[in-house]
Amino acid sequence: MEHATQVRLIKTALDQFDRNASDMQGGEAFSPLIRYLDPGICKREVEVLFRKLPLVICAASQVAKPGDCLTHDLSGVPILVLRGRDGVLRAFLNVCRHRGTRLVPAGQTECKGAIVCPYHAWTFAQDGRLVGVPHEEGFPTLNKAENGLVELQAHEAYGLVFVIPSPQDRKFDFDAWFGEAGADLRRFGMDSSAHYFPRRFSRKMNWKMMFDANLETYHFRFAHTNTIAPMFGDNKGVFDVFDPHMRMFLPKRRMLELREKNESEWNARWAGNIIYALFPNTIVLVEPDHAMTMTVWPDGPEHAVIDSVALIPQEPQTDKARDYWDRNMEIFWKALDEDYDMMESMQSTMHSGANTDLRFGRFEHLSTRFHEIVEREIA
Ligand code: FES
Ligand SMILES: [Fe+2]
Repeated sequence: MEHATQVRLIKTALDQFDRNASDMQGGEAFSPLIRYLDPGICKREVEVLFRKLPLVICAASQVAKPGDCLTHDLSGVPILVLRGRDGVLRAFLNVCRHRGTRLVPAGQTECKGAIVCPYHAWTFAQDGRLVGVPHEEGFPTLNKAENGLVELQAHEAYGLVFVIPSPQDRKFDFDAWFGEAGADLRRFGMDSSAHYFPRRFSRKMNWKMMFDANLETYHFRFAHTNTIAPMFGDNKGVFDVFDPHMRMFLPKRRMLELREKNESEWNARWAGNIIYALFPNTIVLVEPDHAMTMTVWPDGPEHAVIDSVALIPQEPQTDKARDYWDRNMEIFWKALDEDYDMMESMQSTMHSGANTDLRFGRFEHLSTRFHEIVEREIA
């Protein structure tokens, strides 16, 4: 993030503390329950948002070395990410072109040589070419050049691997897509991060709840009373939309000390947490010395799977370093589990008839914008 931006965020937050004010935009908004319950809407969201846009599949460090691979099925599409011996990161549909067997089993993290189908041993090179067909005389019309693995567009940035789960006719312009949010993230220099504490869990909630819950600070004082609330201002935050992505600066109380310091020493990462909502389904929370990522995947309208990983500067080499990061993860997940409990709680009352809509206040406007963008994109 550019220093001038950091100064602007900090100044705006200091002003909120001075005036005991919150970032309020627009009017109240109402989010109809159908958004969280309707299978047709969920199907449409999957078809558009979870097929045609770049989605976080893993940390780049999980496939850092030539021969590293990873399978991923949360989008509903079997994806294989593989760093070839040539060092190039590629993504494929993890599907044999003979009769569709899955090529690389879940959990396998190394593809040393060619990829051999376990069924009839059709063999694919690491760049996807079909290079071997036993008893090839049985397939007189087979054009091997046209029956390589189906390639998906993949992109490495900010220490993460993004893949578009469906093959696309046109080359996707990733830099244009991530725009200002991407430029901001790139400046944090997380490309060579190590991954730590990958965590995958399910919750009984609509996937969009993760954004309802994480794009406001109104709840901090109450839902996080015994965890992180004392560190942060009450209902404070500086919110920016880089349509379709978003950035939130969550000022910590300790930032008040910056008033005594020269602006050139101000550092937004120290002064607060910086959250990026990378459309459609990832949150990157930038903390002073690392980042946490959470990617949410719908499993029907009322279930979601959250895939998370921490990006830390380097793999810990000592027990002391491991203890440090373990403590950090514990604090983070204790607070975040409080959020996910609330999300499940909201989802669980939706069939009660008490509400037809969820009500969003003027300082919960990022959540409102998020829903507007989702609806625009799936229209
Ligand atoms: S299904 Fe893969 S070789 Fe037959
Ligand atoms: Fe929270």
